[in-house]
Amino acid sequence: MGNIKAAITAVGSYVPDFVLSNMVLETMVDTNDEWITSRTGIKERRILKIPGEGTSYLAIKAAQQLISKQNLNPLEIDLVIVATATPDMPVASTAVYVATQIGATNAFAYDLQAACSSFLYGMSTASAYIESGRYNKVLLIGADKMSSIIDYEDRTTCIIFGDGAGAVLFEPNLEGLGLQDEYLRSDGNGRAHLKIDAGGSILPPSIETVTNKQHYVFQDGKTVFKFAVSNMADVCEKILVRNNLTNEDVDWLVPHQANMRIIDAAASRMKLEDSKVLKNIQKYGNTTSATLPLLLSEFESQFKKGDNLIFAAFGGGFTWGSVYLKWAYN
Ligand code: UT7
Repeated sequence: MGNIKAAITAVGSYVPDFVLSNMVLETMVDTNDEWITSRTGIKERRILKIPGEGTSYLAIKAAQQLISKQNLNPLEIDLVIVATATPDMPVASTAVYVATQIGATNAFAYDLQAACSSFLYGMSTASAYIESGRYNKVLLIGADKMSSIIDYEDRTTCIIFGDGAGAVLFEPNLEGLGLQDEYLRSDGNGRAHLKIDAGGSILPPSIETVTNKQHYVFQDGKTVFKFAVSNMADVCEKILVRNNLTNEDVDWLVPHQANMRIIDAAASRMKLEDSKVLKNIQKYGNTTSATLPLLLSEFESQFKKGDNLIFAAFGGGFTWGSVYLKWAYN
C-alpha cells in the first residue's frame, strides 16, 4: 500500500415504507413479541411490497440519496459494486442495471456475494481499487430484498430478516484517513448451516424443489449463533491488538445486525461501553448486506473526522471479518 488511503466520503440509504412488526408476525406464525425481542432484539423490519421490484430498486434509491446529498455527478463514478445475496436475477448483474439507472454510464459494475459479510468484503475490494491509484470514485452499495427468499411460515427465519439498502462512496485520501486494516476470514464447512439448497447449479429449480420449499433460507440458528459469537468477537479483538488500539481508542463499533446478543458479545469482548456500539436492529432486523451502511447512514451526523470505526460481520459460508477505518469528514 502506498500513501493513498481509501476513505468513505458520502453515505446514503433506503428502507421500504412497509413495516412488519412482531405483533403482525404473531398472527402469521407461532411466535410472540416477548420471544423475538428477548432472543434477537428485533421489534420490526421493513418489507419491499412493490410487485415486480427487486433488490435493484432498493439499491437505486440508496445510491440516488447519496448522489443528491453529495451533489455528485454520476458520470464521475468509476465503479459500482452491489454487495448482495439477493440479486434481481441470477444473470444479469444487478450492479450493471443499477449503474445505468443512476446515470453512472462511465462506470463498470458487478455484484459481490458473501452473504451477510458482502458489504464488509466489498469495503476491502472498493478500497483496494482506490489504494492502487487506478480509480477515484467507487460506489459500494449493500442491498438485499431478504423477503424474496424467506418462508413466512418458518418462524425460525421469518422473524429475523428485513429489506433495505445503503450506499457509500470511496475516494482517495492523502491525510491518512480511511481504511487502515482488515482481517477477513471464511470457512466452507459452514455451508451446511446457513444456505438455500435449490436454484443454483447443484439443484436447479424444479417442481420438487418448489414443493419442498428448497428455495428459502435454511438456517441452523443455534450453530450459526455459536460461530457468530466467537468469531465476530475474535476478529474484533485481533484487529485491535494488531493496530495497538485499546477500547479507549475505539470511537464506534459498527457491527452486523443479526442478533442483539451477538452484537453485545463482540462489544463486551472489546470492553466497549454501550454508547459506542451502533445498533438499529430493533427497527430493521437483519438486512444482510445492508446492515453496515444503514448504520453509517443513521449515525453519520455523530461521526467526527479522525474517529476510529471498527466494522465487524459474520454470515453464511461461513464468512466473517473486521475492518478498521478512520472516518474522513465532519
Ligand atoms: O446474519 C447471518 C447469520 N445469522 C445469525 O447470526 C443468526 C444466528 N442465530 C440466532 O440469532 C439465533 O439462533 C436465533 C434467533 C435464530 C434463535 O434463537 P435461539 O436462542 O438460538 O433459539 P433456539 O433455536 O435455540 O430455539 C429455542 C426455542 C426452541 O423451542 P424448544 O425446542 O426449546 O421447545 C424453538 O423451537 O425457541 C423456539 N423458537 C421459537 N419460539 C418462538 C424458535 N423460533 C421461535 C420463534 N418464536 N420465532
